[in-house]
Amino acid sequence: MYTKINAACEYIRDKFPGKIDIAIVLGSGLGPLANEIENPIVIDYSEIPHFPVPTLLGHDGKLIIGKIGDKTVCAMKGRFHYYEGHDMSTVTLPIRVFARLGIEKLILTNAAGGIRADYNPGTIVLIRDHISFFCPSPLRGPNMDEFGPRFKDMTEVYSKAAGEIAKAVAKEKGIYLPDGVYTFFHGPQFESPAEIQAIKAMGGDLAGMSTVPEAIVARHSGMTTLGLSLVTNKAAGLSTQELSHEEVMETAAIAEKNLVALVRGIIENW
Ligand code: HPA
Repeated sequence: MYTKINAACEYIRDKFPGKIDIAIVLGSGLGPLANEIENPIVIDYSEIPHFPVPTLLGHDGKLIIGKIGDKTVCAMKGRFHYYEGHDMSTVTLPIRVFARLGIEKLILTNAAGGIRADYNPGTIVLIRDHISFFCPSPLRGPNMDEFGPRFKDMTEVYSKAAGEIAKAVAKEKGIYLPDGVYTFFHGPQFESPAEIQAIKAMGGDLAGMSTVPEAIVARHSGMTTLGLSLVTNKAAGLSTQELSHEEVMETAAIAEKNLVALVRGIIENW
């Protein structure tokens, strides 16, 4: 694993030797955020050693490095999901690479189903915590001592301080930004209504198929993480509509403007 991480890291360093302040992972339909990056260096995942190529509509497969305001950022347009068949070490490979590149701050974004009654499609939610019960641990196996300890504390996976910055930016821009608990589901099938009710009773506010493995590895690697979910639909059984990836993409396209404004503001102020 170290060999893979180092090879990917060296390839990226060769293309961009400078310091990167913040890494951003762009979720389904949220790729247009990458258009905010000035003087971009675009690297195709197919060029990066050991990076797989995303199989999914709305996930491009490009790493984009450049400026937003006075910050240097590195955005992943397209991420790797467990449901695509990757093992967890591949799902989280980019996060290890970011840590190895010396990037200290990470913004994870995703599209998610809203469980809480006040989360309507289009609502952006600040991830306060997560439920990882259904997520095979990305830290399973020999511990990567160079990154972090065997038994890592997960009390504050999502930085409270970074969350306060996000809330202040949202307030200034007039964007409603509740916080909530994100629950990982394997996918690729959407959840059943009973599963959503079970999670609701357990304190889950959002349902999604990404982010948690990445956040766990970022925490293990000592990175500071901020997570944002864009609610693209009410979770299974909470509306009469059948769930579909097309609906997820359509809502993401409509609501994306607010998310772009919010993330830009967070980057400028973090
Ligand atoms: N469930 C899981 N993942 C999702 C959903 C959902 O309802 N919407 C967008 N991603």
